[in-house]
Amino acid sequence: MPSAGTEIEFRNSSQKLSVKQIEVDGPSIRREKSAGEKITMLTAYDRTMARWLDTSEVDAILVGDSLGMVVQGHETTLPVTLDDMVYHATMVARGALQTMIVVDLPFPVDHTDISGTIQAAAAVMKNSNCAAVKIEGGVEMADTINGLVTAGIPVMAHVGLRPQSVNVLGGYKIQRDEQQLTAQSLALEQAGAFAVVLECVPAAIAARISGQLNIPTIGIGAGIGCDGQVLVIHDLVGLTDGPVPKFVNPYANVNQVIGKAINQWVHDVAEKKYPDDQTSYQ
Ligand code: KIV
Repeated sequence: MPSAGTEIEFRNSSQKLSVKQIEVDGPSIRREKSAGEKITMLTAYDRTMARWLDTSEVDAILVGDSLGMVVQGHETTLPVTLDDMVYHATMVARGALQTMIVVDLPFPVDHTDISGTIQAAAAVMKNSNCAAVKIEGGVEMADTINGLVTAGIPVMAHVGLRPQSVNVLGGYKIQRDEQQLTAQSLALEQAGAFAVVLECVPAAIAARISGQLNIPTIGIGAGIGCDGQVLVIHDLVGLTDGPVPKFVNPYANVNQVIGKAINQWVHDVAEKKYPDDQTSYQ
C-alpha cells in the first residue's frame, strides 16, 4: 500500500490517475495509459461500503449521485443535493483510508456558472477530503472543467448516457452518436479531465473513442474496449432490489444472504433459541 502523502497509483495496473486525499501538498494528476491493464472503480455511499472497497483490490471509489436512486429511493438522480453528496462522501472518506475517492457533482451543474461550480466542488473536497469530482456533460462543460482543473480540482468527465440529463435524452437509452461522443470526449480531455466515464455506449464505439484519447476511459455498459470499468456496487453484489441493466452480471446474491439471516434470527427469537447463554450477560 502506498503511504499517506505519496502519489497513489491504481493497484494491479500501471495506470496512474491521481492521488489520495491525505496529501497535504495538493493533488497532482498523471496518467499512463497502457494496454491491457484495466482500472476498476465501484460506488460506495457510506463507511461500511467504503471499508469493503478499501480492503479490496479495487482501484477507485465513486460516491455517485446514483445514491439518489440506490439508497434514497428516488426514480432519478435529479433530487440529489450538494449537501447529500457532501454527507455521503464524508462517510465514505471515513472508511476509505487508502483508495482514491471521486465524488459526483449533483444536478444541476450550471455550465454558465464556472465560479459556482468551483464553489460546489470545493465544498465537496473540503468536507469529504476526496481527490476529485465527476461531472456529467459534453462539450458545453469544457470551460467549466478547465476552470475546475485550473483551480486545482481534478475532474473525471462523464459522457454517453448522462442520468442527470435523462429528460433531454428521452430516457435511459444507449448513446450511439459516435461523432458527437468522440467530439465530447476529446473536448473534455483537452479541457483537462483526467479520465472520462463512457456510459451505455456500444462497445465498438467506446473502443474507438478509447483509442483516440490519451486519458483513460472508464466504461459502464460500454464494452471491453474501455481502459477501465465502473459499476454500482449494489448491482455487482446482488443488493439491488429489482431488475438490473443488461451490462450487470451480479457476482453474488447479497440480498438473499441478508434475507436468510433476518428470517433465521426472527425464527430463533420466536423459538426462544436467541438469546442463549452465550449471547447473554451472566
Ligand atoms: O452515479 C453513479 O454511480 C455513476 C456511475 C454509475 C458511473 O455515475
